[in-house]
Amino acid sequence: MNVNDFVVPQLHGMRGYIPTPTAGQMAQKLGLPLSAMIKLDANENVMPPSRVVLDAMASTPPNLYPDPDQNLLRDALSNYLGVDRKHILCANGGDEILHLIFRIFVGPGDGVIDCPPTFGVYAHEAAQAHANYVAVPRRADFSIDVDAVEAAVRNTPRAKVLFVTNPNNPDGSVTSPADLSRLMALPIMVVVDEAYIELSSQPNVVQHAVASDNVIVVRTLSKLVGLAGMRVGYGVFPANIVGFVWGVKPYFAPSAPSQHVAVAALSDRAHIDATKRAIVAERNRLCETLDELGWLTPVPSETNFVLCKVTHPGMVGQPKPAGALLHGALEQRGILTRFFGGVLGDYVRISIGRPDQMDALVAALKDIGAHGTNLTPQPAI
Ligand SMILES: Cc1ncc(COP(=O)(O)O)c(C=O)c1O
Repeated sequence: MNVNDFVVPQLHGMRGYIPTPTAGQMAQKLGLPLSAMIKLDANENVMPPSRVVLDAMASTPPNLYPDPDQNLLRDALSNYLGVDRKHILCANGGDEILHLIFRIFVGPGDGVIDCPPTFGVYAHEAAQAHANYVAVPRRADFSIDVDAVEAAVRNTPRAKVLFVTNPNNPDGSVTSPADLSRLMALPIMVVVDEAYIELSSQPNVVQHAVASDNVIVVRTLSKLVGLAGMRVGYGVFPANIVGFVWGVKPYFAPSAPSQHVAVAALSDRAHIDATKRAIVAERNRLCETLDELGWLTPVPSETNFVLCKVTHPGMVGQPKPAGALLHGALEQRGILTRFFGGVLGDYVRISIGRPDQMDALVAALKDIGAHGTNLTPQPAI
C-alpha cells in the first residue's frame, strides 16, 4: 500500500514550517550550558511576567475542559480593545487564527497575495492549501508597493486573500494609514496582522474590521503581553465572517490554563504598560549603540526586534553572506539571532531582550567587530 495515494495531493512532498529551535536544543548543539544561552531569535518577550500571571498559572485545575466559547477571555479582550466581543475569537496563537483564515477562504488554485519579505507562515499556509501564491515584493526600504498590490489583485484570477503585516516582521517597519486605507479598500479579504502593533506608535485597525465586511485583524498575546508559551492569539472579524470561524475552530482552544492566564495578564494593564516602556527603552538603547558601532545599521523598528544590516568590511564580500557570518559568530557565543538569507543575506534580526542580555550582546558585537568572526569565542555569560 502506498500511503501517498491516500494523502491529499497538496501535501505530497510538503515540508513543515521550520520554527526557531529552543534554547535547550541550541545549548546541546553548541555544547554550552543552557544558562549561557541568550535567545534573541524569536521575538519573544522576556521581560519579567506579572505576579498575577504567575499566580494564575499556579491555580488552574488541569482536569476540566476549557470554556469552548472563551467567554471570560473574550470579555477581557473586548475591554482591552474597545470592541464588542461578538467580533472576537481566540485560538492557539495567531498562527492558528491564520490557519483558520486559510481554511475558510483558500482552496486549491485560489490567489493569495503576499508582500515579502514578511512573516513566513502566510507562504507556508498558501503552499499547504495548494493556493496560487502571488508575491508582491516590498521596496528596498521595506514599504509596500501599493500600486503593485492593486495590480496583483486585479490580475490574479480568484484572488482571495491579501496579507498586510503591520508593523512588518522581519524589518519592524510600519505601513502608513493612507496606504493601509487603500489596501483595505481592495475587493478581497484583507488580513492585517497586528502581532506587534501595541509596540508601535501606529493606530490599529480593529474598528475597521468591525465596520467592514472584508478586513480581518490578527493579534497575539505572545508579544507585548508576554504569553508566547501559552499560545493565545485572536482575530477581530467582521460580523459576516466570524460565524465561519466558529465553525472551523478547534472546540476546546485555547486550553483552560491558557485562557485563565490570558485573562489574568490582560487584567494587569499597569504591567503591560511598564513592559512596553521597558521594551521600547531597550530598543532605542540598542539602536543608539549600533549607530555608535558604525558597522551594523538598524532598520527603524516599531516592534520588539531590530533588523540590522551588516556593513563590516571584514564580513561583506566573503563567500558566505555577511548576515550569516555575524549570526554564526554570535551563535558560537551562545547569542541566538535570526538569519534569513535571500534578499536579507546582509542582515540579522535581533529580538529585544532584558537589559543584561542586551549588554552581553553589545559586548559580543564589539568583540566580533574588533577581532573578526573567526576567533574562538567565549560564552557571553
Ligand atoms: C507577524 C506575526 N504574526 C503572527 C505571529 C504568530 O504569533 P503566535 O502564533 O505566537 O500568536 C507572529 C509570531 O512571531 C508574527 O511575527
